[in-house]
Amino acid sequence: MANIKLDIFRFDEATDTIPHRDVVEVDIPETITVLDALEHAKAEVDGSISFRRSCRSAICGSCSMNINGVTSLACKTNCKDVMDEDGSIQVDPMPNFQPMKDLVVHMDPFWDKYARLKPYLQPKDKDSDHERERRVSPDDMKKLVDVANCIMCATCYALCPVVSVDPAFAGPAAIAYAYRFIEDVRDSKRDERIAQISEDYLWLCAHCYACSYCPKHVDPNWRIVDVKRAAIKDRVLMNERGPRHALVVAKTIKQTGMLAETEVIQGTIGRFNIKGLVKITFLGAALGMRMALKGKMPPPFIKPIPKVDEVRTIFESLEVPVS
Ligand code: SF4
Ligand code: SF4
Ligand code: FES
Repeated sequence: MANIKLDIFRFDEATDTIPHRDVVEVDIPETITVLDALEHAKAEVDGSISFRRSCRSAICGSCSMNINGVTSLACKTNCKDVMDEDGSIQVDPMPNFQPMKDLVVHMDPFWDKYARLKPYLQPKDKDSDHERERRVSPDDMKKLVDVANCIMCATCYALCPVVSVDPAFAGPAAIAYAYRFIEDVRDSKRDERIAQISEDYLWLCAHCYACSYCPKHVDPNWRIVDVKRAAIKDRVLMNERGPRHALVVAKTIKQTGMLAETEVIQGTIGRFNIKGLVKITFLGAALGMRMALKGKMPPPFIKPIPKVDEVRTIFESLEVPVS
């Protein structure tokens, strides 16, 4: 048995203006999960502690919370793996969400972004065209299996730094789920789905890999790469800044081995977008001045680095599309 001290974030939006913390001690085997420790604390010490849970088996996606600063499923996290030497475990609500009561958060922004995707099959043909189900080949199904494991726990969303600075960003789970239908051979709305997720700021993803920490190994970061690739390959919304930016970055690195920032700005805004270029010139003037003073102004023309062929070989092996 171990003496576990659960240091719990407490807040009730109905009565509190600021949160406080309670330390609740429970004597339980250290091999049990953080969720079981919370259940014990609620049953034996303080019945008002609030948290979401259902399956206790990493299936329902309800119990995601911040445990010692890392968002994870409480039912998949053993106390012995996270407790400090004195048995303390800090539990907080998921970041990037508004707390409602203790560890329960308002999930509406997460569900709203998911709902915008129309996350259901919109088939190419009628049900009556099929005697039984719509069959999919094992090869076509392989692409969807991992992402179909998503349990909508929002762990990735809570971990995403772009969501924290720009709440309009669809977030990793929604984009991964968009991929699930974009790549479904039975679906009829591939282009519309790509356009929708682009509109929901797909291109803001910074590929920081934070969302790779997914309890179900969906790894949304790579599904986001796949959706961006699909948008470029299918040439959907090629007049938008996102795909143009991705292509011009790839192009300048392939040409010179370096990021040609001046060309990237022009290529992203659009060479013939005079209004946009004038605006960025004014906005960038102060920044440009500061960069020039610090000797960090990028040169207008960049010579290829000595081993640029090696960079080009990497691009070719990855089959990166460069316009
Ligand atoms: S992608 Fe992973 S972390 Fe994100 S909601 Fe789905 S299961 Fe949870
Ligand atoms: S890879 Fe993209 S979606 Fe994932 S956490 Fe980073 S910024 Fe967010
Ligand atoms: S209780 Fe269902 S995922 Fe943790």
